[in-house]
Amino acid sequence: MPTSASPIAASANAMKLQVRGLGKIYGHTVALEHVDLDVREGELLTLLGPSGSGKTTLLQLIAGLIEPSHGQVMIDGIDQTFAPVNKRGLGVVFQNYALFPHMSVAENVAFPLKMRGISAGEIEPKVDRVLETVGLGHAHQRFPSQLSGGQQQRVALARCLVYDPSIILMDEPLGALDAKLREVMQIEIKRIHRETGATIIFVTHDQEEALALSDRICLMSDGKIAQIDTPRKIYAEPASLFVADFIGQSTILTGKVAGAHLQTALGPVAHGQTGLINDSTGALVIRPEDIRLGEGAFEGRVVETVFTGSDLRVILDAQGSEVMTRAPANFDPGIGETIRFGWAPTAQRYVPDTRPHG
Ligand SMILES: Nc1ncnc2c1ncn2[C@@H]1O[C@H](COP(=O)(O)OP(=O)(O)OP(=O)(O)O)[C@@H](O)[C@H]1O
Ligand SMILES: [Mg+2]
Repeated sequence: MPTSASPIAASANAMKLQVRGLGKIYGHTVALEHVDLDVREGELLTLLGPSGSGKTTLLQLIAGLIEPSHGQVMIDGIDQTFAPVNKRGLGVVFQNYALFPHMSVAENVAFPLKMRGISAGEIEPKVDRVLETVGLGHAHQRFPSQLSGGQQQRVALARCLVYDPSIILMDEPLGALDAKLREVMQIEIKRIHRETGATIIFVTHDQEEALALSDRICLMSDGKIAQIDTPRKIYAEPASLFVADFIGQSTILTGKVAGAHLQTALGPVAHGQTGLINDSTGALVIRPEDIRLGEGAFEGRVVETVFTGSDLRVILDAQGSEVMTRAPANFDPGIGETIRFGWAPTAQRYVPDTRPHG
């Protein structure tokens, strides 16, 4: 396929991956709808979104495991839209990482190198180095059945890292692990990413995992990109109600704009906020850490408290609106207790409601 003729090839230099107008339709289901995405060399990008939002489909299209209905996939500036999987130089790690049970850890990791016809003398030092990287330098001779879930996950990662793939694609690779091990592996993946400089595209439906891992988060909804930004930006400046609702646990006060304010169940709020369009609907989003308890213009009833160890999440009901707050761990309100609350105008963010109605 001629690549130099492509209109986007010329600007492709710094970009590892460029996706243009990519879509996949199954019968009447639009799994992915016209996605544009750029991933920089060395970037760790997560695809985040609810079940069925198109994360796996996008990853499969990038990997070449399925063919698109329309659009283009460029890797290192070369059109790879219809190139077979094994010609794209990618590494893929899935949730059920399927190690070969009859092969030792070292043999599992050496396998992709053998498949590529690399000599035994070259294979050994590569396997040693990569097992060291994932913290399994001591486990060469063990078999998968003798490893914990997290260790098996590391072997799968090592098997992928060993041939220096151009891009590493991971689809919910930590899904099968318990919460504590997930956290350990998240830190491990960050370290490996930093040390190897690999470009990684990581699928998860866990927003905390995405916030913890990513250089940028690509939040998907209904086969489309809802927002793509750094974790800080997507948390602080959600572009829509969907994003605000999906990322973090916020208080969302919906209402109708009336003149200079938003009319909500709590009364008029958001005076002087920019972006208000008279008569439109929208919501004020306030992050839990920004809500002050014990003072302010509003009153709520404690409906639930959740002790997390480092703090106490206090959920209030205020005129039917759920107010998510965070208090010091030594705060101990009773259920049903009435508490005053408020927030600084600088802590609130207005998002228009762009969800389909009806
Ligand atoms: N082979 C297929 N045939 C028909 N529909 C499919 C196929 N694969 C995916 N879909 C549909 O496409 C949509 C997107 O699916 P996809 O697997 O990409 O979602 P996902 O974001 O990975 O979800 P999950 O978090 O549950 O893994 C869904 O509605 C799904 O039912
Ligand atoms: Mg999936």
